Amino acid sequence: MGQLEGKTAVITGGGTGIGLATAVRLADEGAHVFITGRRKAELDAAVETIGAAKVTAVAGDVTDLDDLDRLYDAVRARGRGLDVVFANAATAAHIPLEQVTEEQIGQIFGVNVRGVLFTVQKALPLLNDGASVILNASTAADNGAEAFSLYAASKAAVRTFARGWANELKGRGVRVNAVSPGPVDTPGITGLVGEENAIAARAKLATDTAIGRMGRPEEVAAVVAFLASDQSSFVLGANWYVDGGENQI
Ligand SMILES: NC(=O)c1ccc[n+]([C@@H]2O[C@H](COP(=O)([O-])OP(=O)(O)OC[C@H]3O[C@@H](n4cnc5c(N)ncnc54)[C@H](OP(=O)(O)O)[C@@H]3O)[C@@H](O)[C@H]2O)c1
Repeated sequence: MGQLEGKTAVITGGGTGIGLATAVRLADEGAHVFITGRRKAELDAAVETIGAAKVTAVAGDVTDLDDLDRLYDAVRARGRGLDVVFANAATAAHIPLEQVTEEQIGQIFGVNVRGVLFTVQKALPLLNDGASVILNASTAADNGAEAFSLYAASKAAVRTFARGWANELKGRGVRVNAVSPGPVDTPGITGLVGEENAIAARAKLATDTAIGRMGRPEEVAAVVAFLASDQSSFVLGANWYVDGGENQI
């Protein structure tokens, strides 16, 4: 028996990277996983990988409240409520302070902060007793990496959401926690630095960790699976680092 047998999970950004690895892991643990993201091809490939019996893809944008409603309508139609929400979808960009535009603030905070808030708010009516909400933050929230302050600030907001929502929802038996990955080898890294810089950037990111390599998406998924399960029943409002020691030693 898996640790999430009979449970239902939602993962935003579940078509690629950390979200996909987590969808695979939670499905392996016995959950039925709903994944969302904007690109249908990525979602279709994820369904192919995981198997249609264990996963449902609902294409959508977390900044579009109607899309979130469609996602949760699909969960509601399954009739078993919701046990796990992994608010994982995010966007990142390197932008020095003097170049930040209103549009960029709107985009990064729109997905990473507003999108996370409505992903969780709209899940609330469906959450079963003992449900677990996990927010994907980042080690970037704690360090002052150059030209990364907009993304870092959005992730600091996510970490803070986990504290406040843990407090607000504990009376329902719902636990909220954050996970903070360090550099993890995903398509998002290539998207951030550009194809031409991808090899050099990955080499540099590996040296940023104490362990001397980038993380694998599956290594974050393992921590999310722990936070999703009753194994973490005494963990509340916490922020679990999965960073190869980057921000620890
Ligand atoms: N990789 C790292 O080193 C690292 C480190 C710390 C934290 N993180 C966090 O880990 C999470 C996953 O990132 P990743 O590295 O796995 O990168 P990724 O492969 O690029 O995953 C991001 C996912 O989010 C989805 N997404 C983006 N904007 C969306 C929107 N508006 N609506 C719905 N879905 C959206 C993307 O799908 P579509 O484009 O199809 O919508 C994609 O599947 C993010 O929260 C990121 O900040 C990553």
